[in-house]
Amino acid sequence: MEYLKFYLVFSCWIKFAASVLSSDVPQAPVPIPKEKLLVLTVATEETDGFLRFMRSADYFNYTVKVLGMGEAWKGGDVGRSIGGGQKVRLLKNAMEALADQEDLVVLSVDSYDLIFAGGPEEILRKFQQANHKVLFAAEGLVWPDKQLADKYPLVRTGKRYLNSGGIIGYAPYINRIVSQWNLHDNDDDQLFYTKIYLDPLQRESLNMTLDHKCQIFQNLNGAVDEVLLKFGTDRVRVRNTAYDSLPVVVHGNGNTKMYLNYLANYVPNAWNYEHGCSHCDDDVVDFSQLKVGEYPNVLVGVFIEQPTPFLPEFFQRLLTLDYPKDKLKLFVHNNEVYHEKHIQRFWEENRNVFNSFKVVGPEENLSQGEARNMAMDLCRQDATCDYYFSIDSDVMLTNRQTLKLLIEQNRKIIGPLVTRHGKLWSNFWGALSLDGYYARSEDYVDIVQRKRVGVWNIPYMAHVYLVKGSALRNELKERNYFVLEKLDPDMALCRNAREMGVFMYITNRHEFGRLISTANYNISHYNNDLWQIFENPVDWKEKYIHSNYTRIFTENYLEQPCPDVFWFPVFSEKACDELVEEMEHYGSWSGGKHQDKRIAGGYETVPTDDIHMKQIGFEKEWLHFIREFISPVTLKVFSGYYTKGYAIMNFVVKYTPERQAYLRPHHDSSTFTINIALNNKGIDFQGGGCRFHRYNCTIESPRKGWSFMHPGRLTHLHEGLPTTGGTRYIAVSFIDP
Ligand SMILES: *[C@@H]1O[C@H](CO)[C@@H](O)[C@H](O)[C@H]1NC(C)=O
Ligand SMILES: *[C@@H]1O[C@H](CO)[C@@H](O)[C@H](O)[C@H]1NC(C)=O
Ligand SMILES: *[C@@H]1O[C@H](CO)[C@@H](O)[C@H](O)[C@H]1NC(C)=O
Ligand SMILES: *[C@@H]1O[C@H](CO)[C@@H](O)[C@H](O)[C@H]1NC(C)=O
Ligand SMILES: *[C@@H]1O[C@H](CO)[C@@H](O)[C@H](O)[C@H]1NC(C)=O
Ligand SMILES: *[C@@H]1O[C@H](CO)[C@@H](O)[C@H](O)[C@H]1NC(C)=O
Repeated sequence: MEYLKFYLVFSCWIKFAASVLSSDVPQAPVPIPKEKLLVLTVATEETDGFLRFMRSADYFNYTVKVLGMGEAWKGGDVGRSIGGGQKVRLLKNAMEALADQEDLVVLSVDSYDLIFAGGPEEILRKFQQANHKVLFAAEGLVWPDKQLADKYPLVRTGKRYLNSGGIIGYAPYINRIVSQWNLHDNDDDQLFYTKIYLDPLQRESLNMTLDHKCQIFQNLNGAVDEVLLKFGTDRVRVRNTAYDSLPVVVHGNGNTKMYLNYLANYVPNAWNYEHGCSHCDDDVVDFSQLKVGEYPNVLVGVFIEQPTPFLPEFFQRLLTLDYPKDKLKLFVHNNEVYHEKHIQRFWEENRNVFNSFKVVGPEENLSQGEARNMAMDLCRQDATCDYYFSIDSDVMLTNRQTLKLLIEQNRKIIGPLVTRHGKLWSNFWGALSLDGYYARSEDYVDIVQRKRVGVWNIPYMAHVYLVKGSALRNELKERNYFVLEKLDPDMALCRNAREMGVFMYITNRHEFGRLISTANYNISHYNNDLWQIFENPVDWKEKYIHSNYTRIFTENYLEQPCPDVFWFPVFSEKACDELVEEMEHYGSWSGGKHQDKRIAGGYETVPTDDIHMKQIGFEKEWLHFIREFISPVTLKVFSGYYTKGYAIMNFVVKYTPERQAYLRPHHDSSTFTINIALNNKGIDFQGGGCRFHRYNCTIESPRKGWSFMHPGRLTHLHEGLPTTGGTRYIAVSFIDP
């Protein structure tokens, strides 16, 4: 008994010692020189994916031989079904000439959906470590014949099934495999290799194995959750977290093309934290080499598919794009009767500015998809159309260079990043959910916030984009891209582009502009944009606030014409005009009577001829305006006084000699009052002004868009001086009553 135990222990010790000893004597093989690696790939067209593959191969100095370029593809639709036999036939032909080069290592890979993440030395080292003559890529899903699953050798960890998108092996062995091919071009390549691999005799004699743990080949199908980007100083790699490996070849097989597109925005050196974007300036169109007369012709498609705030401003921005207008043809689809007046006005003023100007109005009753097809087709059919630029009416391009900047990037489809102000909402998606809708990519927020700047290959974009005319006449030559199943038109376009293998890019290299909100746009008023202060505050401010308003704070840009009467610019011309129009449109002026049902008590001692903001449904917006734009001025001039910005009496007053021409001296029921002149003395009216009795001080020439601010009670007894001709309008609020 004792003896037996001793024997067992002893024998185990011997085995242990033997294993230690043998690993002490490393037999490092002589590295295969990198000149001995030849990459073979089949590509019949230079798709965007192929060009990307070649860029990654060139970056690592691979020697690549492309087979089949220019040949018609007869290998079936491998994206959706079986096929690919043509690839084996071409490889078989190519291998005949290489068959006797015993020390040549051949790497056969797909190229439309594949990139390199590492170089030849690394791949050869890993191949040597695998210690086989032929190594196939592996994946976790069995394809195309699921019934063969059981025939595969078991693996304890790692991917069990063969994928033919990547093969590496010595030339004579690869040749012995592919020389067995005698099938049709549309037969399945993967099935062919699988059958050879599953034959135990061949597996042994050809010394084949699979790259189970993704040392070399990373197939993404079924493995998206296993991989992460690994950022280095010069390069970005993919790390497989399941096997802790750094694969050299990354393959977006099956349904993972979009994920590969995402990875390839970084790998191998497209973008990293140190250097940013490294291919953004490749192959750019150089405008400095072009005379203005040689600028590309662009068809601009404008889509007004719903009532849209700030449409006149949208058109103005289009007009101020820095691009020769005779190179622009304009196509406008307007689906809204409400906007016909805006388009009419723009058309009358600018119809001769553009090379051509076509409007399709609501009477045509086109669906959005039909209208977009029509516009895109106008460019497609016109051989002189170099670019098609599609822009929706909710895109406010603030960058006048946008069109040039997009053309410069020289991509088939590219959109400028535009975002909803202060929101993460933008015009692109970084990833798609399984059902084809929005999913947030890991980098979405950084791209939207421009923490990562570059040109990004993305699966979906909308609202504004540029498409090359040549792409419309080649890859995208079908005519119906915007109508597909029940998808919304932009989703249909993007799905079609993805299926055609045309990459779509979004650039955030510059600020381009913003998306406005068209939600809650009530068009039952006369000047509806006035109501947009909540929904689109940036555009509201730009349109309605005086352009010198901010100088009040930066340069003390305000005056004090009488003691404690402050005078500052606040409204733009448009704000003044539209508010007056709105009141005249409403039309029920009070008539300046003492009896006034609109106010508590029903009696006004010093009545004016006016309309209250409340009467036109503008009270909430007006009070918000006071809080946003008046309160800061109050704090500046009456320091230490924090206004609540509360006011019950907010109204527009009309003075005319025919009705009420002046207002007798009075105090206001307010802590302070604002009084904004809404039109011009000398042009719109004569006379007018305001006199403060205590100081014997008169302001005779009110300025349109400028406001007075003065204390309401006690010190500032004041009167409205007679308007002697025309009509004078002022907007008044009694604040903090
Ligand atoms: C590729 O070759 C060029 C020129 O010989 C060299 O400068 C570059 O470093 C090489 N790239 C890599 C990744 O080895
Ligand atoms: C496969 O080839 C390697 C050398 O490349 C050799 O060491 C190994 O024994 C071979 N395996 C089989 C099963 O023949
Ligand atoms: C407009 O088109 C829709 C759907 O195509 C149709 O239902 C509707 O009757 C059309 N309206 C007019 C005014 O032609
Ligand atoms: C639009 O404004 C009008 C007038 O103020 C109002 O009666 C109507 O309820 C508003 N509509 C919506 C949807 O808010
Ligand atoms: C703003 O001020 C400058 C001069 O200080 C003036 O030239 C310009 O006209 C002002 N802008 C407006 C809209 O009044
Ligand atoms: C008020 O000022 C005017 C001139 O600005 C002057 O003629 C008048 O005498 C002043 N009145 C009083 C009461 O000081």
